[in-house]
Amino acid sequence: MLTVAIIGTGSRGATTYGDYLVELKDKVKITAICDIDKNKLKYYQNKYQIDKKYCFDNSVDFFKAGKLADVLVVATLDKDHYDHAMNGLELGYHLLLEKPISPSIEECVAIEKKAKEKNRYVVVCHVLRYTPFYRKIKDIVDSNRLGRIIHIQSLENVGYWHQAHSFVRGNWKNSIETAPMILAKCCHDMDLLNWISNKKPLQVSSFGSLSYFKKENKPKDASARCYDCKVRKTCPYDAIRYYVENTKDKENLGWPYDVVVLEPTNEKLKEAMKTSPYGKCVFDCDNNVVDHQVVNIQYEDELTASHTMCAFSKDCYRTLKIFGTTGDLEANTLTNQIIVHDFLTNSDDLIDVTKINDDFTGHMGGDHIMLNEFIALLENKKTSLDSSIEKSVSSHLICMAAEASRLEKGKVINLDDYKESILKTIE
Ligand SMILES: NC(=O)c1ccc[n+]([C@@H]2O[C@H](COP(=O)([O-])OP(=O)(O)OC[C@H]3O[C@@H](n4cnc5c(N)ncnc54)[C@H](O)[C@@H]3O)[C@@H](O)[C@H]2O)c1
Repeated sequence: MLTVAIIGTGSRGATTYGDYLVELKDKVKITAICDIDKNKLKYYQNKYQIDKKYCFDNSVDFFKAGKLADVLVVATLDKDHYDHAMNGLELGYHLLLEKPISPSIEECVAIEKKAKEKNRYVVVCHVLRYTPFYRKIKDIVDSNRLGRIIHIQSLENVGYWHQAHSFVRGNWKNSIETAPMILAKCCHDMDLLNWISNKKPLQVSSFGSLSYFKKENKPKDASARCYDCKVRKTCPYDAIRYYVENTKDKENLGWPYDVVVLEPTNEKLKEAMKTSPYGKCVFDCDNNVVDHQVVNIQYEDELTASHTMCAFSKDCYRTLKIFGTTGDLEANTLTNQIIVHDFLTNSDDLIDVTKINDDFTGHMGGDHIMLNEFIALLENKKTSLDSSIEKSVSSHLICMAAEASRLEKGKVINLDDYKESILKTIE
């Protein structure tokens, strides 16, 4: 029986991973949890049936208790990953480490080094690599059906409500407390570009800014919280409409409502609007992360890629267009369709991913597939995984170089030089 400890029993650590691991009870047992939120700790102690002495309300006591399982799931907030991962590796845990590895590239490299030294697996939760959707795209590119890949264009439609929830009111609103938007939201996209292109990234440049969610755009009569705001009916970002009116008469409320309150109900959400950060005016939060950003990447062999993230879309989805010399590919995660155009035969092949995948829960099925493959790896039924610390550090490097470029008005950054300058600081 494989044993698992979880540090950070929030949306990812508990709702996504813990709850699914409980379903795999024939092969996995959760033996310890740690969370600074005592309500959550109690709730998951009961839910997962864990001995009270293995439930910790602080990380110091948790790590002092020694190695309590084979695997440690690190699902705390971005800036704590380094401490929790390093302590976990020191004790001999294999890690399932939430992305980003760390907002500091120096710390990413240090975790990579420690994992090698301790000979432990560190699987970074780049869950999109595990989805049947992106695996199909990767197969098509690797089969050479599109010929030589010349350019890749990727677009992340964040969703206006998702931006407001996570990146204006929520955990990832301020890069000083967490990570810059391009790392927090788009390290998946950079990872996909590296993986699909299978080329070395050489140079990066980027532009972007926080243009809308700031004090100067707050309507004259708006108040600090939506519940007593006179102009809320004219605002698309009204928290009362989103969290309260939309949940009337609804049961089994999941994400993002369970981020606002534990076991959400309409009544609990209504109450939270008076005190929770999720009830604040979007023009009156301590946010600084961008609401739109573009990144250009020069890969080896003259392959170019561009990635755009933008808050202002109705839905939350990604599109990808891959331009090859003998065909192109268009993919859309909203429609779950991949279309391959063959230039020679002038024919289109439409692949409906709903026909090759039956579980779309949690990142289009990627969350559960990743967990199952990680378990198979630890049971020696697999020899490697699609995501690893080595592969992930490269995507994090692109994100941090893109952020450095954005802050320097689009200056071109050479990735080898950038990495070298960082390595020098930790030698
Ligand atoms: N792989 C993905 O696609 C994906 C998606 C969303 C979030 N994430 C990442 O997952 C991580 C967790 O995000 P989340 O959405 O679950 O956030 P969350 O706020 O729901 O959960 C974090 C939990 O950690 C706890 N915590 C905070 N500091 C702690 C400490 N020092 N010791 C112990 N517990 C502590 C909090 O109380 C909370 O319960 C973040 O790094 C985030 O960037 C990854």
